[in-house]
Amino acid sequence: MTPNELRDRLDQFPRLPLAAYPTPLERLPNLSQELGGPSLWIKRDDEIGPGMGGNKGRKLAFLMADALRRGKRKVITFGGLQSNHARMTAAACAALGLEAHLFFFERRPPKLQGNLLLDKLFGAKLHFIPFGVAAAASMTLERTNKLVRLVTAVLVGPRAYFIPVGGHNAVGCLGYMAGARELHEQVMALGLEQVTVVTAVGAGGTLAGLMAGLALLDSPIKPLGIDVGKLWKAFPASIARLAGELCTALGQPHTFRTLTLS
Ligand SMILES: Cc1ncc(COP(=O)(O)O)c(C=O)c1O
Repeated sequence: MTPNELRDRLDQFPRLPLAAYPTPLERLPNLSQELGGPSLWIKRDDEIGPGMGGNKGRKLAFLMADALRRGKRKVITFGGLQSNHARMTAAACAALGLEAHLFFFERRPPKLQGNLLLDKLFGAKLHFIPFGVAAAASMTLERTNKLVRLVTAVLVGPRAYFIPVGGHNAVGCLGYMAGARELHEQVMALGLEQVTVVTAVGAGGTLAGLMAGLALLDSPIKPLGIDVGKLWKAFPASIARLAGELCTALGQPHTFRTLTLS
């Protein structure tokens, strides 16, 4: 599919203008030289708002539009104490007049600092439920989301809009299909060759969206994820599944069998 076709298909989904695109693709000559490796560039998705920026803004543009379309007034999500996703969800809800409920399955720290303090300043309701630390990667991402959805619906009410950890679903990650298209166009315009896009992987939606978008474009850009949390059981399969769901949502099913996740 061409970049214009991908754009047209993505435009069929509601999206809020929470940020200005495209984000710049900047060259890092000093770091490239220091490392003596390949030419390094940075895609400035840290400039995406709301709430001080970050990759989650691309997902929230679709998720918040979906919440509004469904007439939701309350939004639930969860993450680690310093979750950037939670902070940006709180900011988006504040901007849209929605009630954000953020769940942290840890003890409330004696003092709210960093993103937790910002969450509070954005007016989010913070819920601390110290379940105790589970054994590392003992559950799949899907099972965790299902369990948390059940628990939080009891506490906030069943009509609230639930956003999985990191915005990891086939609505939010459309945002990174759009991101893939944007990157593809920039890379092609610059005439760069043998490009690998490297992304941190937390909940995996950024990587899934990039994989799906690049695959549909038949782009020469290769996605590479680095798992920074090691939180989930059978994680590569979850990411591959989501990437497949995204392609299906855009009317062009695609199966992702192999996954490079370091
Ligand atoms: C700055 C940054 N980049 C990338 C990621 C990965 O995002 P995802 O949850 O979509 O894997 C995260 C979150 O973990 C992040 O905070």
